[in-house]
Amino acid sequence: MRSMAKVDANEAMSRMLAGESGAGTQVAAEMIAALAKIYGAEGYVPIVSAQIAGVSYKNIGEAGIEFLESMRKGGARTRARATLNPCGLDLEAWRELGFQEQFYKDQARALDAYRGLGIEMTCSCTPYLIGNAPGLGDHVAWSESSALSYANSVLGARTNREGGPSALAAAITGYTGNYGLHLDENRVPSVHVHVTCPVETYQDFGSLGLMLGKKLGQSVSIITGLQPGRCTPERLRQLGASMAASGAVALYHVAGATPEAGAYTGKVASGEIPTRLVEVASIDDVSDVVPAGLAEGQPMAVDLVFVGCPHASKGEALDLLGALEGRELKADVWIAMARDVKRELIQDAAFAKAMSPRVKLVADTCIVVCPIDDLGYSSVATNSGKAYFYLKNNPRLAVAHRDTAACLDAAVTGIAINKDRGEA
Ligand code: F3S
Repeated sequence: MRSMAKVDANEAMSRMLAGESGAGTQVAAEMIAALAKIYGAEGYVPIVSAQIAGVSYKNIGEAGIEFLESMRKGGARTRARATLNPCGLDLEAWRELGFQEQFYKDQARALDAYRGLGIEMTCSCTPYLIGNAPGLGDHVAWSESSALSYANSVLGARTNREGGPSALAAAITGYTGNYGLHLDENRVPSVHVHVTCPVETYQDFGSLGLMLGKKLGQSVSIITGLQPGRCTPERLRQLGASMAASGAVALYHVAGATPEAGAYTGKVASGEIPTRLVEVASIDDVSDVVPAGLAEGQPMAVDLVFVGCPHASKGEALDLLGALEGRELKADVWIAMARDVKRELIQDAAFAKAMSPRVKLVADTCIVVCPIDDLGYSSVATNSGKAYFYLKNNPRLAVAHRDTAACLDAAVTGIAINKDRGEA
């Protein structure tokens, strides 16, 4: 028997599909209905929030802006809370960081188009750190791969791997199709990953994620063998972001650490839930990086240390600043974060004490869609598996994936030390 909420959802969608809420909303409803049909949805579910990706002007271009403006002119407006992914630059400090004015202007027009639909200008991939944190079992429509992985896996909310347009359509209608990871049966693990090697640091979790993403594709897994005490939210964020980058993992469970794992751990162990076993005995092979043009083992000059992919929390940023306090830096350090986190951070007394002129708190920005090579940087050390995964494809950049402590050492020496894996 269908629930009252589902009946209401179907009726509400029918009215939007009939154009009762205007042409813009009708287009959004048609997108949701088409996806629901393709995936054989069991009706629709109301969403608590949406996270909209596809923000960079580089990605959406003039055609994207025109589409957003046509939706607004057709009366579309968000019905569910909607937050926005990062864009290509810091909207306030862009000049100081060396961005071109035209790049800023184009990006600002794209953001205006989203603002016109009622989307919050959060410009962050960690919306759950700035107030958009769904709870266990909440239905959402999120389209940033690291964020949706975190929402599903660590928060226990329910979202499919949305694209920017489908998340936008869900925000405008307030509904999404009830299929995929919204349904209990699709959240059950089909792969059992058993880790027998030490996975301890921030970098380790990213390296494990890069390795698992390739092996798992879209599969839901349960991971055993990790020490729950090591599975901090920051490290799980790194694990999920990396899995989503090298594969298409939208949901994973970690025994003893994520909210739904307990329902499956015993059943997987007893064979009641059949799974394919993947054993991980080493992650070293994915944690070393040889930048283009350098032989393995050769030191690599670093002119930018980047942390904050996914965006850093206030606590992470304070730890980083504390670790750099009093040290003279030979490379710039960018710490990327949400603007609200930056606002909070600069009011903290510890911030002023620790801040150095070469350290930049970069708000609103995704490193991957930011033209850092145009800003004069040619070699980057990062503690992020996801940033490494994407930046290494830029032929104008040398990129090293190192642990947090090694990245900070690289900022001091201007050199990335190969195969040095410190503690996070
Ligand atoms: Fe966020 Fe961009 Fe990294 S969206 S997770 S900073 S690749």
